[in-house]
Amino acid sequence: MTTSTPPQPVSRKTHRRLDESSPLIRVDDLAVSFDNRGGPRIQAVDGVRMAIYPRQTLAVVGESGCGKSVSAMSMLHLVPRPPGRFDRGKITFQTDDGPRDLLTMNEREIRRVRGNEIAMIFQEPMSSLNPVYTIGDQILEAILLHQKVSRSEAQAIAIQAMKEVGIPQPEQRLKAYPHQFSGGMRQRVMISMALACQPKLLLADEPTTALDVTIQAQILELLRSLQAERQMAIMLITHALGVVAENADVVAVMYAGRIVEYATVFELFDNPMHPYTRGLLRSIPATRTKVNRLVTIREVVDDESQFRKLPGAEAGVRPWWPWHKPPADLTPHAGPAGDYYLQEVKKNHWVGVWRTKAVEGHESRAPDLDYRIADDPTKGGPPVTPS
Ligand SMILES: Nc1ncnc2c1ncn2[C@@H]1O[C@H](COP(=O)(O)OP(=O)(O)OP(=O)(O)O)[C@@H](O)[C@H]1O
Ligand SMILES: [Mg+2]
Repeated sequence: MTTSTPPQPVSRKTHRRLDESSPLIRVDDLAVSFDNRGGPRIQAVDGVRMAIYPRQTLAVVGESGCGKSVSAMSMLHLVPRPPGRFDRGKITFQTDDGPRDLLTMNEREIRRVRGNEIAMIFQEPMSSLNPVYTIGDQILEAILLHQKVSRSEAQAIAIQAMKEVGIPQPEQRLKAYPHQFSGGMRQRVMISMALACQPKLLLADEPTTALDVTIQAQILELLRSLQAERQMAIMLITHALGVVAENADVVAVMYAGRIVEYATVFELFDNPMHPYTRGLLRSIPATRTKVNRLVTIREVVDDESQFRKLPGAEAGVRPWWPWHKPPADLTPHAGPAGDYYLQEVKKNHWVGVWRTKAVEGHESRAPDLDYRIADDPTKGGPPVTPS
């Protein structure tokens, strides 16, 4: 390339404008298990339901091993099969060609979605960056794979993507190798690769856990602004409840492969209904109140009285909890997870309950909330202006 080449226009692929009134992705009764070398299969995910709207962040929280990553990775067929297996379910995604069930896509079809319409970022950037190639080669490859652009156009897109995530001097940085970057910068590189193709959905699996708090806040702020600009939906997987409070619109709490609670972020923090969620929230230190010791999650879930507080409790509606013996009036459906049910116990608030007589014959609405803080004038978001 000669130095006299005029700057190339940055031609960026844009997806069709999204209809914000319907979910971009809807997960319905997803079940995924793993072969356990002759032993009973490990049921990593069992009956997960969720919906994510354009420009919305759904946070998925829960302890290690509860099935957060498997839920996200299933969307892109990143679960190794075998030993993994999709047992049940449907994942309906609004592709550029209309709604499709991602689970039934073949390898060629899912490759067109992966990194293009849906991108994923992982906790450990080194695991998704190749140490022997320059950063530039890796970002360019991601762009050239999905966009019909020349190499110099791809380079312009890469530089633009790096600028967006706050990487200084991107032109020079393109020639560097991953080890020449700090942890925070590597994370930004990974995010710029994920965002270069303007995905409609970003699966962010503990994207900032390895970073210090200031950089973490910067990166999350960056994702929020890109989200507003591009209508991007985010599935944010995290252990950090502070990150949830600051970034989520809607929260799904998982335990042992199932969703135990699902609500808007304000409703979940103000009015947690499943004892596990209450335990989770009480186990974090509050900044303003002085307490002698924190309550452990175990103390809350070991307290039987905590399980008799749901709306409908008098009629026998009980939070599902795998450590407990099922209630005597259980009327399970046939098949796996038939003892459990994600019930809308209150308008727009779902709790995983035992399938007892009290909920028999009651088909609850599947979790579906189009709430976004940015549109909520009562929470500091701008008022919605009719267009
Ligand atoms: N490749 C695999 N082979 C066998 N079992 C697996 C595999 N991947 C995940 N699992 C199992 O599936 C379950 C859910 O794992 P998953 O990675 O989704 O947990 P997670 O909620 O993301 O946890 P963490 O917070 O630690 O990342 C775990 O019991 C795990 O051992
Ligand atoms: Mg995980």
